[in-house]
Amino acid sequence: MLNNFIFQNPTKLIMGKGMIAQLSKEIPAGKKVMITFGGGSVKNNGVYDQVKEALKDYQTIEFWGIEPNPAIETLRKAISLGKEEKVDFLLAVGGGSVIDGTKLISSGLVYDGDAWDLVKKGKADKTVPMGTVLTLPATGSEMNNGAVISCHETKEKYAFYSEFPKFSILDPEVTFSLPDYQIACGIADTFVHVMEQYLTKTGESRIMDRWAESILQTLVEIAPKIKENKHDYQLMADFMMCATMALNGFIAMGVSQDWATHMIGHEVTALTGLTHGNTLAIILPGTMNVLREQKGAKILQVGTRVFGVVSGTNDFRINETIRKTKEFFKSLGLTTTLTEANISADVIDEIEKRFNERNVHFGEDGLVDGATAKKILSCVL
Ligand code: NZQ
Ligand code: ZN
Repeated sequence: MLNNFIFQNPTKLIMGKGMIAQLSKEIPAGKKVMITFGGGSVKNNGVYDQVKEALKDYQTIEFWGIEPNPAIETLRKAISLGKEEKVDFLLAVGGGSVIDGTKLISSGLVYDGDAWDLVKKGKADKTVPMGTVLTLPATGSEMNNGAVISCHETKEKYAFYSEFPKFSILDPEVTFSLPDYQIACGIADTFVHVMEQYLTKTGESRIMDRWAESILQTLVEIAPKIKENKHDYQLMADFMMCATMALNGFIAMGVSQDWATHMIGHEVTALTGLTHGNTLAIILPGTMNVLREQKGAKILQVGTRVFGVVSGTNDFRINETIRKTKEFFKSLGLTTTLTEANISADVIDEIEKRFNERNVHFGEDGLVDGATAKKILSCVL
């Protein structure tokens, strides 16, 4: 049955070629804007120049160096600069890491203590308004209120929730400069976001199931084509739309959610540095396998509707669907075992220990604790 829900997503989505020029219509005149960036890809693909041109009538300061898996150590510096300069609007220009990091900056600017407190608390209510120019389709951060922040010192990585961006600009042309590995990780991340909100129980909502399946089907269709030509506007536009729609709350309305694969994946990244989307490509087939009884009916459904697995015993079809899921990740060019990613078994023990210490019970039925996480990781070693 569909669960009760309240849905509201306030982010204005501005999509298409040349739309970065719209920035001056979206940021109120007179604002002092801090523009945040990653490591410099925007200087090579023309995005930086487009942003600066659009904001030429504003007072702006720049903060560079928000790294993949944004670290509190870097974000503290941005927060103190923003406080000193009394900025009252933030513009994140980059992928999920720059956007996530900027969400924490926007909360940290109006918080007196250390911003890591906010991450540990898991949420912040007061923020400075922010907008985004997205350069990497993957996380959905451009249209949700989540962020995932790392601490290098303690090798921790946690989700944190604050405000939605006021607006996000998505120009598919800016993705043409993406490295193949980032595209692969972005497709895997998008695919697994859908699975986390879909591969739970059957019979909750026909329409939510079909919205979710439409994103999975689109990804399976476009992935090999993007591999052949990553400069195809229409393909990259579809990819961008898939990523945004996968994690902006739309497909989650009134249905069960899992997120265990992500929680394990964050630990793997925190401990080894492996890129987010790649951790998920390794772990999801393990989660499907270990929880094959609880998730069986939904695995059969996705097998039929997305991978065309229609004949054989239920057990055969479940195995076949897990195999095809893994094949899909492989076809993107990603590793699908921990060993292939040069990760050793001691990481599994550490994750089990961390989950036990925190007494977690992830997943739609709370079944993923330390022991189950160990089983999942052991089956993808
Ligand atoms: O830093 P620069 O030089 O810009 O290079 C980046 C970075 O090295 C590069 N890149 C981005 N756009 C590019 C480009 N290179 C060439 N051309 C472009 N157009 O790509 C590299 C990776 O960027 P990053 O932002 O780290 O990737 P992604 O968007 O996948 O973000 C990953 C982070 O988001 C979190 C992940 O955990 C990870 O920390 N997530 C955030 C979520 C959310 N807020 O809702 C949900 C996700 O599940 C995820 O956990
Ligand atoms: Zn993700």
